[in-house]
Amino acid sequence: MAIREIVRMGHPTLRQRAREVTADEIASPALRDLIDDMVDTLAASGGIGLAAPQIAESLRLAIIRIPGGPSRYGEIEEVPLTIYVNPTIEIRDAEEQGFWEGCLSVPGLRGYVQRPRGIRVRWQDLDGQPRSADYEGFLATVFQHEFDHLDGHLYIDRIKDSTQLMFEEEFARYGNPAEAID
Ligand code: NI
Repeated sequence: MAIREIVRMGHPTLRQRAREVTADEIASPALRDLIDDMVDTLAASGGIGLAAPQIAESLRLAIIRIPGGPSRYGEIEEVPLTIYVNPTIEIRDAEEQGFWEGCLSVPGLRGYVQRPRGIRVRWQDLDGQPRSADYEGFLATVFQHEFDHLDGHLYIDRIKDSTQLMFEEEFARYGNPAEAID
């Protein structure tokens, strides 16, 4: 287990479509080792999600861990540490909502992004079994942001108004921190 380097915008892996994890790979020790590294790296970063391309591994694999409870967005549902293998998103409610997003691969910046507010996520677990879950609101944005990494997209691609991209320091001073998400 190891804390890996989180690659930043400009690294080519962040702009590639990551490949599917094969059935053989899901059961492999190499994949378990990679996931252990991702868990350690996420914990050390203080973030709530990490996709494999962010540590320069071009695989359709992401982990999310969201502490539940009261927050500046109201009560947030806890998402215990979960590993998403080959995840897909189906839009269930296309009406858009906006949050100030940040990204471990784009450090120091915040941007206002609007995304569909209701989704169904499907993925494989570490036994290769299909799973699904529905998310709305803040959580819907988190999953869309993380899984965008698997298609080579960064949140800054989805900012409609470039005046709504700021350095964190200026955002804290002039922006609206009440709407920020990590
Ligand atoms: Ni990100």
